[in-house]
Amino acid sequence: MSKHLLIVSHSQSGNTKSMLDAVYAGTTDEEVTGVEVRTLHALDAGVDAVQWAEGIILGTPENFGYMSGALKYFFDEVYYPCLEKTRGLPYALFVKAGNDGSGAVASVQRIVAGLAWREALPPLVVQGELQANDLEICREFGMTLAAGLEMGIF
Ligand SMILES: Cc1cc2nc3c(=O)[nH]c(=O)nc-3n(C[C@H](O)[C@H](O)[C@H](O)COP(=O)(O)O)c2cc1C
Repeated sequence: MSKHLLIVSHSQSGNTKSMLDAVYAGTTDEEVTGVEVRTLHALDAGVDAVQWAEGIILGTPENFGYMSGALKYFFDEVYYPCLEKTRGLPYALFVKAGNDGSGAVASVQRIVAGLAWREALPPLVVQGELQANDLEICREFGMTLAAGLEMGIF
């Protein structure tokens, strides 16, 4: 039986999307065989998708010291319907920021603390222009989460 991994993200100008593509490539690495991965735009991801997931990766730019409006909308949609049903869900977060990222991380952490999701990996924050090395780190981030899910570590 495959484990279900959901990736929910939003990108305004494409940088978080580049990170998403690399994260997704890691989650679907040929060495990880027992994980089914689904990616959804934050505006399209709802309660059913979250309840399908056995692990979740969230991706957002930092805008005005917060997560993107689209990811906030996602949480607005799923928070109460998922509150008692997704406790302990392992999650990981990646953030693309201009020069900070801490506000986006804190804003997500505050909400997932309420949901009682479990942080499977430390948040991955990329500041400034994306470099090839950043994308490699994103790839490893995705692969680590998927492999851990497959092995039952998370
Ligand atoms: C409206 C707006 C607000 C932003 N606010 C922040 C911020 O508070 N902190 C920061 O580090 N970067 C900030 N940035 C920079 C973005 O996080 C950065 O450009 C990021 O790469 C955008 O990701 P995206 O291409 O996926 O939309 C802001 C950018 C925009 C357009």
